[in-house]
Amino acid sequence: MRLSRYFLPVLKENPSEAQIVSHRLMLRAGMIKQASAGIYSWLPLGFKVLRKIENIVHEEQQRAGHIPMLMPTLQSADLWRESGRYDDYGEEMLRIKDRHGRDMLYGPTNEELITDIFRSHVGSYKDLPLTLYHIQWKFRDEIRPRFGVMRGREFFMKDGYNFDLTKEDALHAYNRHLVSYLRTYERMGLQAIPMRADGGPIGGDYTHEFLVLAETGESEVFYDSAVTDLTFGDRAIDYDSVDQCAAVLEEFTSKYARTDETHDEALFAEVPEARQRTARGIEVGQIFYFGTKYSEAMGAKVQGPDGKTVPVHMGSHGIGVSRLLGAIIEASHDDKGIIWPEGVTPFHAGIVNLKQGDEEADAACEALYASLKALGLDPLYDDRNERAGGKFATMDLLGLPWRITVGPRGLKNGVVELTSRRTGDSEEMPPEAAVEKIAQIYAGIA
Ligand SMILES: Nc1ncnc2c1ncn2[C@@H]1O[C@H](COP(=O)(O)OP(=O)(O)OP(=O)(O)O)[C@@H](O)[C@H]1O
Ligand SMILES: [Mg+2]
Repeated sequence: MRLSRYFLPVLKENPSEAQIVSHRLMLRAGMIKQASAGIYSWLPLGFKVLRKIENIVHEEQQRAGHIPMLMPTLQSADLWRESGRYDDYGEEMLRIKDRHGRDMLYGPTNEELITDIFRSHVGSYKDLPLTLYHIQWKFRDEIRPRFGVMRGREFFMKDGYNFDLTKEDALHAYNRHLVSYLRTYERMGLQAIPMRADGGPIGGDYTHEFLVLAETGESEVFYDSAVTDLTFGDRAIDYDSVDQCAAVLEEFTSKYARTDETHDEALFAEVPEARQRTARGIEVGQIFYFGTKYSEAMGAKVQGPDGKTVPVHMGSHGIGVSRLLGAIIEASHDDKGIIWPEGVTPFHAGIVNLKQGDEEADAACEALYASLKALGLDPLYDDRNERAGGKFATMDLLGLPWRITVGPRGLKNGVVELTSRRTGDSEEMPPEAAVEKIAQIYAGIA
């Protein structure tokens, strides 16, 4: 993309409505525009990152064997009456009447709809295990939408649902989700710590929230600092192996890590004092085994191997796709702007032409642009007639991890400059070497 032809409404001033850095930077970098309270338009740059995050979620879900589909945003109230949640959900549910006076709602989540799909088509244990998921807009009429996309009213969420014959099988699905989530967040450059969460009215021990540590997080968290040393990395995992998935759960959840909702002072006191941490965190996902709550209420049953008909064991598993943009920026920025991790950056590299209109500089930039594109990379070329300082400031604000700076003086010596946004380190090299280096960095990522 050439910046002169892009739509990137960068703000010069700090927007006064933004209380936290991610919201401020998303507005300043022209990624989003508020449409009404807690509802945003995704401008081209923000939309690009949203799609990257969505793709990573898709890839990791499918790697785990989960099946993508798409359910509608508007749902009939009748299904929610069957589960009893039409009345329970309260004011967070946006209720709508259609022209025939029928009660509809904008889905805040999809347990009822998916259970209805399941019961209509599945009747035998032979069709299990099954995990279906989708990534779709949700609406929750939050009492206090704030912090931009972090707590929106309309937000983009991955929600997946497992259907299993037995509790043991459903717990394997739970563990499989935990593993896939660890991989998902790491690919986005995030550490998200699984923390024991509150089962709510359904109760039970089987729920974990994934939290990204950040001062601006809405949850208070308590943990053993040893949990921050854990990384999943690129280890191989067989998602069908009950033992392998259970071992990962054990490794990542046996140390103390809880949100304020489940915090237990006595247990926390058993953690060596030097390792006790109290901090704040952003919830970027949650996994939940809830047994037969919906399958019993809605009659989602299968015939088991013994011929008996039993309600299926279910769980639901969510990732806050649009919230993740805010969480990533909270975790990765400096006073100049965003610093995108390579896995989610909107463009792979920026090209800054220090002297637009200079024949040699223009030609070198065009050549770099063409070579990067030929390798399947997506560069952003700042070809505007602007002063160098302004171009650097824009690139720093946008946060592309790599910048190639091209100017007549360097070209005389046959070099351009390659700069890391994260470290600020620059290196001079021939243009072909810069292209080669960027290609290597993204090999296996882009
Ligand atoms: N209002 C919102 N805006 C943006 N993302 C949200 C919002 N509510 C939930 N999410 C994201 O969707 C994920 C799955 O939804 P879940 O039902 O677990 O949310 P929740 O526990 O009600 O969230 P919270 O406690 O933050 O209100 C959450 O982990 C979070 O990342
Ligand atoms: Mg939650």
